[in-house]
Amino acid sequence: MDILVIGSGGREHAIVRKLRESPRVGRLYCAPGNGGIAQDAECCPVNAMDKEGMLALCKEKAVDLVFVAPDDPLGAGMVDYLEAGGFPCFGPNQKAAQIESSKVFSKNLMKKYGIPTAGYEVFDDPAKALAHIQSQGKYPAVIKADGLAVGKGVIIAQNQEEAAAAIRSLMEDKIFGDSGSRVVVEEFLTGPEVTVLAFTDSKVLYPMVSSMDHKRAFDGDQGPNTGGMGTISPNPFYTEEVAKTCMETIFLPTMEAMNQEGRPFKGCLYFGLMLTPDGPKVIEFNSRFGDPETQVILPRLKTDFAEIVEAVVQERLSQLELCWSEGPCACVILASGGYPGSYEKGKEITGLDQHGQAPGVTVFHAGTTCENGTFYTNGGRVLGITAQGASLDNALDSAYAAVKSIGFEGSFYRRDIGKTFAKE
Ligand code: AMP
Ligand code: GLY
Repeated sequence: MDILVIGSGGREHAIVRKLRESPRVGRLYCAPGNGGIAQDAECCPVNAMDKEGMLALCKEKAVDLVFVAPDDPLGAGMVDYLEAGGFPCFGPNQKAAQIESSKVFSKNLMKKYGIPTAGYEVFDDPAKALAHIQSQGKYPAVIKADGLAVGKGVIIAQNQEEAAAAIRSLMEDKIFGDSGSRVVVEEFLTGPEVTVLAFTDSKVLYPMVSSMDHKRAFDGDQGPNTGGMGTISPNPFYTEEVAKTCMETIFLPTMEAMNQEGRPFKGCLYFGLMLTPDGPKVIEFNSRFGDPETQVILPRLKTDFAEIVEAVVQERLSQLELCWSEGPCACVILASGGYPGSYEKGKEITGLDQHGQAPGVTVFHAGTTCENGTFYTNGGRVLGITAQGASLDNALDSAYAAVKSIGFEGSFYRRDIGKTFAKE
């Protein structure tokens, strides 16, 4: 099978690496890819949102399958377009991808099918949204843009002033464009967060091993929300009992709900969960692999990844069984100074050679370019330094040892990934 992976981040690097391991995979392409991915796949300079360009690339390379990894092209109907052109895709079509691309859709779905989530109201009028929050008088108040907002569309307002500012920036200043035309105002939940990704072909659903993201920029969960500053897998809070509850009350009902709605979901379904005192509840759905969750999950997969991907596309996932390695994984993101705000690009990255020798360590490239064998920064999240070990402690020690030897001007990383749980 010749495969094209769409995307350019650390997640896509992890996907490409895992596909590379499969004897079933022939040529591997990535569009647009990045400096690091170019070591593992042929990178093609087509923008991830360019449907015509992507279809032309599929034809030119005569690929057998396309793996659409990021949310934007999924939300924009890339799968529908390429499949209409004769190229089978791993990933949901536009109607199914709405489970991520519209919070209003996903909240209404959960309400209709009794899937546990935070209570909520939807508003398209800023004055009404604010009046509702004021009349409730409960803080923190959670305000979410309806549409995609590069992981930054959720505002947790601690008081009335912050709520008013949030409504203004989302609905009036439209900092995320039309994504903020409607907002969801929801109940604030508490408890540990867990990410569970699942393969589904809309007939069966196989959860992957659990993980924990660290969304805030700085140690101690301080600072602004980011796309994710590091991950561990498994998530220590996700016991077998919790997993069973989630399967029965959330995962299977969600797959069924999408079928009932005439939007069968095929691909990877991402469940962002909170383990509240009242049981597990859904914080968000994503229609794709998480970043940087993928970097700690796929290295643990023992079953042939390409075989799973093909089985999902052909709706025969039930024929397979998934096997996972026991060894925990940890990923630490090395980011550009200023991220998730503005940052500089083009800084030379040093120390990438040594890490390669360290056992169990893999460096996934998220935002890099390569010129004449030298790597330069080209994004906010630059590298995902990942290690697998016999224990979470081992994995974290190896990942952090590698992090210390790699650097570039202005780089920063969180020093407390997985820390609360590593040392009991
Ligand atoms: P999201 O982009 O929907 O994953 O939200 C970003 C982060 O905001 C989540 O990881 C949670 O930490 C937090 N969050 C979102 N919704 C709620 C909620 N209803 N209650 C408490 N925290 C929330
Ligand atoms: N790491 C969170 C996400 O991929 O949405």
